[in-house]
Amino acid sequence: MTGRVTLVGGGPGDPGLLTVAGLDALRGADVVLYDHLAPLSCLEECPPGALLIDVGKIPGGRATSQQRINELLIEHAQAGRHVVRFKGGDPFVFGRGGEEVLACAEAGLGVAVIPGVTSAVAGPALAGIPVTHRGVVQAFTVVSGHVPPGHPASTTDWTALAHAGHTIVVLMGVANLGAICAELVAQGLPAETPAAVIADAWLPTMRTVRAGVTEIAEQAKQVGIHAPAIAVIGEVAAQELPVGAPSEFEQAAKADEAVTDELRPARADDAAELLVLQRACWTSDAILNNTFEIPALHEDLATVRANFATYETWVLRRGPRLIGAVRGVLRGTDWEVGRLMVAPDLQGQGLGRMLLQHIERQAPPSARRLWLFTGKRSEANIRLYTRAGYQLIPDDDDSLPHVPHTVRLVKLTSPESSQTR
Ligand SMILES: C[S@@+](CC[C@H](N)C(=O)[O-])C[C@H]1O[C@@H](n2cnc3c(N)ncnc32)[C@H](O)[C@@H]1O
Repeated sequence: MTGRVTLVGGGPGDPGLLTVAGLDALRGADVVLYDHLAPLSCLEECPPGALLIDVGKIPGGRATSQQRINELLIEHAQAGRHVVRFKGGDPFVFGRGGEEVLACAEAGLGVAVIPGVTSAVAGPALAGIPVTHRGVVQAFTVVSGHVPPGHPASTTDWTALAHAGHTIVVLMGVANLGAICAELVAQGLPAETPAAVIADAWLPTMRTVRAGVTEIAEQAKQVGIHAPAIAVIGEVAAQELPVGAPSEFEQAAKADEAVTDELRPARADDAAELLVLQRACWTSDAILNNTFEIPALHEDLATVRANFATYETWVLRRGPRLIGAVRGVLRGTDWEVGRLMVAPDLQGQGLGRMLLQHIERQAPPSARRLWLFTGKRSEANIRLYTRAGYQLIPDDDDSLPHVPHTVRLVKLTSPESSQTR
């Protein structure tokens, strides 16, 4: 029997992004050689007797040499087996897939390739960053940041990139991001160019940091960003399209049933990782009289962290443009704002419902109206809130502060208050 090799691109980590062809290949594999960036839960689809070989590199730890990987592919295929080489992203985007194809072809083996969704595009996408955007940028360049500019092994023309007007997507660039950004600016990239770093894209631990190109490396370092991460440099990095992963929506829908009290107060180090855009207030008429402005709507992460101790009430959201609502600012008004509790490890699993319960439990009996600001993309939560008696406040109602990317809801808690709205 003639063996063969199939290179399968597994996408950035979410099993849902493995192609149908890739899944079929796994289901028909005798042997799978896999890397750690591939969606490993898909290995459960392999036949029970399949031999699964971990050839992934552990950062700073063991690695199977490329030579040995090639040998394993060839040995198993020559023994008549169907060997799947399962990789993260696309096999030909910094994946050494080409080398493996050549090695197998030289050994006289047939090789099939199943492309994968590359993290270079999929990571930014989930952070709401389109790598091209009509009227903004017409090209993108994917570049390795494995070695810094000026390194003898670097073949990238950073000067050309600085002037190209492309979106620059850097893979494998966490350690060298500072040097890369500095070189781009030194070569003429405007210092105010936006940038973003997306770590663990499409995984539950995904984090996005946004800043200008001159600050992004430091910001990423401050919040402890580590590989795997993608850097995006260019005007599109300022975009924050309201998109979510399909799984977020599915989980949110299921979570309608899940109720738990496992909330805890927000901490400073949540700021980098929370996915919450929820704001609840109970108030009297100050807001209706338009005498109150929500402070610090666009504080960046560094400011939020520096001022954390002064915040008593939290609104946290994906990305570094966090929103801080400060009780101190409210002193002297007749507002009372409740401390929000968070449950970061329960993201997308009933958080909306938990916060709702918390808000209602914490509201003083005298509260006449409960206000709630939530992300426009939180469709499941919006349904939840409206079922709980909240009404959407129309976009053209300017009597309340407008918060970017949010919808505003209000619940009237007494007949008395209903007379005022
Ligand atoms: C050896 S390259 C492989 C790229 C892969 N073939 C692809 O097309 O996405 C590994 C780099 O890809 C990026 N990467 C891959 N998966 C990622 C993920 N889920 N989140 C963030 N970055 C990722 C990181 O820059 C990482 O250092």
